[in-house]
Amino acid sequence: MKIFIETPRLIIREMLPEDLEGMFIMDSDPEVHRYLGNQPVKDIETIKQVIEFVRRQYVDFGIGRWSVIDKSTQEFMGWTGFKFNTEERNGHVNYIDIGYRLQKRHWGKGIASECAEACMQYGLNELKYDKIFAVAHIDNIASNKVLQKIGLSKKNQFDYDGEMCNWYEYLVQ
Ligand SMILES: CC(C)(COP(=O)(O)OP(=O)(O)OC[C@H]1O[C@@H](n2cnc3c(N)ncnc32)[C@H](O)[C@@H]1OP(=O)(O)O)[C@@H](O)C(=O)NCCC(=O)NCCS
Repeated sequence: MKIFIETPRLIIREMLPEDLEGMFIMDSDPEVHRYLGNQPVKDIETIKQVIEFVRRQYVDFGIGRWSVIDKSTQEFMGWTGFKFNTEERNGHVNYIDIGYRLQKRHWGKGIASECAEACMQYGLNELKYDKIFAVAHIDNIASNKVLQKIGLSKKNQFDYDGEMCNWYEYLVQ
């Protein structure tokens, strides 16, 4: 099992089949999906496929989202990190984005900020990315704040399957 990053409160490691239940708790919650297209997951089989998809991305692209684990309890909290996106969005294709998603009980404690900051440093210093992108629904205040805090710049708004989203970029000079 590979651990990529440790922060004061968190372990950021590869996503594992054992994250199934924690992922289901997160992704079956309508509030979690409020700014993600409003389609919470209904069955655990779908989550099993998501975990398989992420693990396949590790093999195909050398990167994929990582699980966030509470250091003090060893519990699954959510995911964070990078994804190689092959679908066209806002005129971009085959690009790396940064993201995060947490179970609702962990919101409002700075966890997303802690994850995202640590991942940015890892992406720039270890993975040597020179371009990192991100997308956030225009009304998702917390997510927009996190992206700005970690240094991404808002470039434009675009239509993401019928929802207006902000497009963010970080370009190494
Ligand atoms: C977005 C999400 C990851 C934020 O996680 P979090 O750990 O609560 O975020 P943080 O505690 O680090 O807060 C970041 C900032 O947003 C603010 N914030 C948090 N929740 C907020 C809310 N509901 N309304 C307004 N501001 C909020 C915080 O005060 C903080 O501001 P600061 O940087 O000025 O201190 C979490 O809400 C989530 O998992 N949502 C569902 C999935 C999702 O939307 N992912 C992002 C897709 S783009």
